[in-house]
Amino acid sequence: METLKEKSSKKKSASKATSKYTREISFEPADAVEEAPRVVDGHKRDGEAAWEQSLRPQRFDDYAGQTRVKEKLKVFVEAAKGRDEALDHILISGPPGLGKTTLATIIANEMGVDIKTTSGPALDKKGDLAAILTGLKPNSVLFIDEIHRLNRVVEEYLYSAMEDYYIDIVTGEGLGARSMKFQLVPFTLIGATTRAGLLNAPFRDRFGIVERLSFYDRPTLTSILMRSAELLGTKINEGGAGEIAKRCRGTPRIANRLLKRVRDYAQVKGNGVITEDLANYALDQLEVDHLGLDDMDRKILSLIHEKFAGGPVGIETLSAALSEEKDTLEEVYEPFLIQEGLLQKTPRGRIVTALAKEHLEGLSQ
Ligand SMILES: Nc1ncnc2c1ncn2[C@@H]1O[C@H](COP(=O)(O)OP(=O)(O)OP(=O)(O)O)[C@@H](O)[C@H]1O
Ligand SMILES: [Mg+2]
Repeated sequence: METLKEKSSKKKSASKATSKYTREISFEPADAVEEAPRVVDGHKRDGEAAWEQSLRPQRFDDYAGQTRVKEKLKVFVEAAKGRDEALDHILISGPPGLGKTTLATIIANEMGVDIKTTSGPALDKKGDLAAILTGLKPNSVLFIDEIHRLNRVVEEYLYSAMEDYYIDIVTGEGLGARSMKFQLVPFTLIGATTRAGLLNAPFRDRFGIVERLSFYDRPTLTSILMRSAELLGTKINEGGAGEIAKRCRGTPRIANRLLKRVRDYAQVKGNGVITEDLANYALDQLEVDHLGLDDMDRKILSLIHEKFAGGPVGIETLSAALSEEKDTLEEVYEPFLIQEGLLQKTPRGRIVTALAKEHLEGLSQ
């Protein structure tokens, strides 16, 4: 029997190429069956953990960009160390792949303390949290990833731990049950979230330091790529790194992922060195265009441009025409297109901007 994947690739090869990026777009529902993960998706993937770890900066000095955030944190770390105290609790927010986990690790390293890592969905019972909290060493870091996904009961249990370093522990059962205060050692909670807006105000207020990471500019991404290439033992020049930097959506995780792919092209199709020409060629092959858009991004823009005269078009209509969940469109695809000024949300629906039209027309020439 033909698998979905085979069907989808047959369909793709049958569609006529109109430019190096734009295929003739059929917008049939089945066409939207995506078989491979997107190379330009900022989320982490299973299987990339070890590779990411090998490239992850361990010290502030290796952590490129985010200068404002980094400079503040350096002061707070030095002050806390000088007083031999735990650092205040820190909330780090920002889109996937911008370096939240990396920053948490660096803070613990710079403080010279242990880090214990867990995540919102993993901590589903008060008992799990109590076990972790009572096992912490003085001044160490408890890192909770995806902290917006903590359940309410566990979240509220954290309040006294964060504020006064104690928790209530219940012993015994039924009528004999007794609650006692358990004193914890001072510690630093570092929470990471891609959705800071989902945090309850009382929880958010308990973080003394709240920082938001922003997308990286090209020179910073170029330097991240030069460093990663060196760690990988790959030869790259500024032009090559600059070309990847342009197309990685301001995100170090995507930059490193593209580097890994481009390195293969340099080895097989070039002389092993990632130059601007080589990077250009490889990224074209990977169908990541010079704005960092992939096939699906272009499909969304072309659909609105060609079939709906540039919009406005409602999200439900788009969702049906692309056979893609409304939430996925809103959470995965739209933010980057909006941020880049290619798509606009209006009360009457989505519209493509002049910039998007120019981009699409440029590609089909
Ligand atoms: N400022 C930086 N300098 C150099 N490399 C970085 C920087 N920020 C992130 N990276 C690289 O990008 C990769 C992804 O970063 P990280 O895992 O910290 O992102 P994240 O914000 O925690 O993502 P998620 O939201 O998916 O958890 C890291 O492995 C690291 O190599
Ligand atoms: Mg992370």
